[in-house]
Amino acid sequence: MKYSVCMFAAAVAASAMFVGCFGKKDEASKNKEGVLSGAKEAVSAVADKASDAVAAAADKTAEVAEAAKDKAAEAVEAVKEGADAAAEAVAGAVAGAAAAVAPKEGTIRMITEATFPPYEFRQGKEVVGIDVEICKAIAKALGKELAIEDVEFDSVLPSLIAGKAELAAAGITVTEDRKMQVDFSVPYVRTGIVFVYAKDKPFEKGEDAKGKKVGVQNGTTSADYVREKLGQEPEMFDSPASAFAALKAGKVDVVIADIDPAKAVIKGQDGYDISDLLTVEEYAVAIKKGQPELLATVNKVINGLKDSGELDKITDDMTAKANAMAAAEEAKPAEAPKAE
Ligand code: ARG
Repeated sequence: MKYSVCMFAAAVAASAMFVGCFGKKDEASKNKEGVLSGAKEAVSAVADKASDAVAAAADKTAEVAEAAKDKAAEAVEAVKEGADAAAEAVAGAVAGAAAAVAPKEGTIRMITEATFPPYEFRQGKEVVGIDVEICKAIAKALGKELAIEDVEFDSVLPSLIAGKAELAAAGITVTEDRKMQVDFSVPYVRTGIVFVYAKDKPFEKGEDAKGKKVGVQNGTTSADYVREKLGQEPEMFDSPASAFAALKAGKVDVVIADIDPAKAVIKGQDGYDISDLLTVEEYAVAIKKGQPELLATVNKVINGLKDSGELDKITDDMTAKANAMAAAEEAKPAEAPKAE
């Protein structure tokens, strides 16, 4: 993909220089007619090369190919107005082709933030979890392979909107704000957020945290809760586990996180506990707005997984997997022995 875009960009750039030369010659000779036809040829060569490169790029999607062809056609159009304008349009075509992001053919991309067991977490280098299994089922229904992109949680929806992935699944709570930006599938779980606290300093109700240092993961509904319900700024962390580490280190008084990852972080940690739910939230898969067909497929798959009992099985399996990993983590010596 990158290689073919480069080839395309190089071909277009080389031809752009050609067009640029004609532009200068135009000034010198004042033979506008001849130059314009020369420039026209140059730009249609650009268009040809562009379509050649596009055709040759086997892993490019039809969408990118179309966009590139359109840009090239625009360049041809611009020649009629002068070689300089054409050169500009060609430069635009280069920029457009470079900025275009598309999945490898036969692939659908899921964007997530993999510090959120059992929904998404790393097992070695691999990202696994309930959301991964749901997206795999969606990919299968579409006859595609699943590719996973792991980013900071507060980049998940912006990246989806920017076209860096087709599916966002990251234990994403459906909220009114987010509904204005993306389309959500049917929900696949009902859950909520809780306090994570040291047993000797329990937190039960929202008010208990007023004026206290509250650690949350960046961009989450837990952060919203602190701002909207407690009227204060939360302390931001890049994962529930790092917020919990800050609690253990005494840097925050309490943590707020979604109940399942909260249970995961306190697993095997004797001195810590979680409260009852502070909110009721539902997770769903997000897609870019305006794709009714994709949305229908996603919903069909999720409803199928729910109705068949498969989703319960996936949830049990992934919870067990996350717990086993937490147990293995705990069993590790505090410092790994150094290799001689
Ligand atoms: N459910 C919360 C939200 O949507 C937290 C999700 C965090 N997910 C993650 N993969 N880190 O804001």
